[in-house]
Amino acid sequence: MNILIMGPAGSGKGTMSDYIVKEFNIPHISTGDMLRENVKNQTSLGIQAKVLMDQGKLVPDDVVNAMVKERLLQDDCKNGFLMDGFPRTLNQAQALEEICATIGKPIDKVINLEVDFDALATRITGRRVCKNCKATYHITFNKPKIEGICDICGSPLVQRSDDTIEQLKVRLQEHEKNTKPALEFYGAKGLVQDIDASAPMETVWASIKSALGK
Ligand code: AP5
Repeated sequence: MNILIMGPAGSGKGTMSDYIVKEFNIPHISTGDMLRENVKNQTSLGIQAKVLMDQGKLVPDDVVNAMVKERLLQDDCKNGFLMDGFPRTLNQAQALEEICATIGKPIDKVINLEVDFDALATRITGRRVCKNCKATYHITFNKPKIEGICDICGSPLVQRSDDTIEQLKVRLQEHEKNTKPALEFYGAKGLVQDIDASAPMETVWASIKSALGK
């Protein structure tokens, strides 16, 4: 299956992606993770992207489109993929449409996570991520066994530099202005399944699983 997961910052895209890729045995392609890897490695793309990401703004379409095209051409996408955080603009949706046509892998389903502002703010400010393996936790909803330490690899947990209320507001404005048109593009094709993602994680996963026909 070729799946997109969309939704505002902190709605649970990354968290639900972990469940989906295990169920469908497909790769998880997150443009946010790919960009953060570039930032960490201080590539020229990463240096350019960091300034925008720290403000909560979107990285230019041509940069992200090229990154995604290269990734989708890799062998592990042959049997499907889960795309997280892309497309985020109408231009990106149109670019993805072309890439998918070229590789013969049309999008089957778009999962759209819906959560209100107060819940997003609580999730974003309480999120902690592993510095090493990138596993995600929450200080209330998904605590590590030992405070501040990753259960999986034992590395320290940190806060993402864009996880503040100020940047959240910018990210939500970007979502409203730029990502809604991309969502409407798929809505017109009848591919979008809205999910109430304000429920506890297992409940959200049950809704997604059912939307994906499992
Ligand atoms: P990206 O990394 O994609 O960030 P985002 O879209 O802002 O989403 P998040 O990663 O913040 O949240 P999420 O929805 O994955 O939530 P999570 O599962 O972690 O992008 C970052 C930046 O990169 C962008 O701002 C932009 O600059 C750039 N970028 C990326 N893609 C781009 C593109 N295509 N074009 C241009 N620029 C791009 O959950 C959040 C927290 O809530 C966690 O702590 C989790 O444990 C908790 N949680 C999750 N689900 C639940 C639940 N059901 N109940 C309680 N807690 C929950």
